[in-house]
Amino acid sequence: MTTRRPIFLIGYRGTGKSTVARLLAERLHCTWLDADVELEKRAGKSIRQIFIDNGEETFRDLESAVLRDLMNATDTVIATGGGVVLREENRLALKNGLVVWLRAPAEVLWHRLNEDAMTRERRPNLSQGGLAEIEEMLRLRTPIYERCADFTVDTDAATPTEIAEVVSRFGRQT
Ligand code: S3P
Repeated sequence: MTTRRPIFLIGYRGTGKSTVARLLAERLHCTWLDADVELEKRAGKSIRQIFIDNGEETFRDLESAVLRDLMNATDTVIATGGGVVLREENRLALKNGLVVWLRAPAEVLWHRLNEDAMTRERRPNLSQGGLAEIEEMLRLRTPIYERCADFTVDTDAATPTEIAEVVSRFGRQT
């Protein structure tokens, strides 16, 4: 039986959390999941629709509930939503696992998000939208991501496979 604590991937939208989670789980021979997909399954609708019907606060409540259920998972890599670090209760839950922060400059994220088909449904605007929104969110969130992270990876200079490799080496040591 193995009981490795979960690895949580945190970081802003477009940092590649889901892609890296899958590749990392392959390397570590464990399972992976995307917390936003779990949330959408439970809610029976897309995140965009939750924002429209119920508002961001309800989305954040669901996000916390999903995290509470996942925080004790073993041998699992979990890709979290970009705003999971905003609530104190979530930051405490993340301490149950190994927290890896994937980061990239705002312009890089802006280009990636424009090319990502998931963006429309999974990523409703959080404020004014566009590059200005990303810059603003990074300004607000970077210190929080930094505080939560056990390990940080710059994703603009590496492929998802390379990132998974670096994280898996770190994961094995801990
Ligand atoms: C959000 C990021 C999204 C999703 C929701 C809110 C955020 O997840 O949870 O749209 O506040 O940054 P991804 O980081 O997987 O895009």
